[in-house]
Amino acid sequence: MPLWRTLTLIVLLLPLLAACRLLAPPPAPPVSPAAALPTPAASPAPGVAIPVETTLSGERAWRTVEYLAGTIGPRPAGSAGYQRAANWAAEQFRVLGYRVERQPFSFEEFRVRQREVRVLAPTPAELDAVVMTNSGNGEVSGPLVAAGLGRPEEFPSAAAGAVVLIERGVIPFQEKVANAVAAGAGAVVVFNSEPGLIQPLLSTPAVVPAVFIRREDGLRLRDQLAQEAVLLRVVVRAERMTIASENVIATRPGRSEKALVVGAHLDSVEGGPGANDNASGVALTLELARVLAATPTAAELRFILFGAEENGLIGSQAYVQQLSESEVGRIVGMVNLDMVGIEVRLTAAGASGLSVPAREKAAELGRNLPESPNGGAGSDHASFARRGIPTLFLFTGIDDNYHQPTDLPQFVQPETLHLIGEIALHVIRTVAG
Ligand code: BES
Ligand code: ZN
Repeated sequence: MPLWRTLTLIVLLLPLLAACRLLAPPPAPPVSPAAALPTPAASPAPGVAIPVETTLSGERAWRTVEYLAGTIGPRPAGSAGYQRAANWAAEQFRVLGYRVERQPFSFEEFRVRQREVRVLAPTPAELDAVVMTNSGNGEVSGPLVAAGLGRPEEFPSAAAGAVVLIERGVIPFQEKVANAVAAGAGAVVVFNSEPGLIQPLLSTPAVVPAVFIRREDGLRLRDQLAQEAVLLRVVVRAERMTIASENVIATRPGRSEKALVVGAHLDSVEGGPGANDNASGVALTLELARVLAATPTAAELRFILFGAEENGLIGSQAYVQQLSESEVGRIVGMVNLDMVGIEVRLTAAGASGLSVPAREKAAELGRNLPESPNGGAGSDHASFARRGIPTLFLFTGIDDNYHQPTDLPQFVQPETLHLIGEIALHVIRTVAG
């Protein structure tokens, strides 16, 4: 091929090659971040390594989401995935010049491996059931015996060795089960006093299987019992386990006594890669830490990645629990980033000192940021609010893949990450001075 034809071909192919690069997902960040990041435009602050940036990048945040949820995958408390993510994130903060601490904590969890509530006779049927937290283990088949609300005088002598049926209400679950055990019951079935199912908790572990069923099933069985014998089978296999996890805390001292916390939960549910919930919040937290690394603020900045949020806000509770009253008093605000990568419905919930600047910035960007209708209780800011710390919960809404194996990076939007990042950055700059 003559040279001019080769050159023409290259020139024609160039835009195509460029287009391919744009369409292809950006590569995942390596474990050592410095190499992949461009040299900063501004000169870095003393002690700060290379990757400090002055502007937020939704694309770079997306690559962090891809790394955490795509490369590492599920990060439930106590898993190797969580540990890997925590080590990686700690290294990111360290390279950015932050002082990094790890706060270990552990908690008890009740895990159900097997459950079965089945009518064996006269008409075989399987019932929808919940194993009470701290139920005993066992496999019990026996006659069903009604015991009212489970008060001691309501157990007939036939309760010994039987499966007892008790209605919810008047006395706690704990007492119903204890009274049933005292009456010699082999298993306890409590039916609801209202529609639906809840997760009952026994404050001390029971020695017999204890399950909870729907009101309609309980009433039907009780009516049936008045006419004929009913045989029930209850199987529970569960275990209590101690799970160890940790929070990753990155601190940058300020000029004043004040401190501002920016947080996100690093864990995911079991079996879910947690791209939006909550690699998105972690990615933005790291991005904010990167942008703020070179900007001194009056208030101390504390970026915290929480563990075991999905187990009931355990990491953030462990964090606020160890704060003294005077340390609580220093914290002027907590900004929680949880599910901030897929735009469903943007909301902000919390103290006006934090939500007003958030709304201002949103308006400047041509966006509405309404108050969350339920205050958005189910995330780590709630642990701080309980200690009287002003909080802000930034949330882009519940997407279809919430808590599913399909909560994948491909659904997370760099532009949404960027938008929430700009809002959070404005709040931080306003509050931290
Ligand atoms: N990322 C969610 C936060 C959330 C808040 C989801 C409000 C939906 C509505 C969080 O990880 C979560 O799943 N929270 C749980 C409660 C938590 C205490 C386990 C929830 O809201 O069900
Ligand atoms: Zn969640």
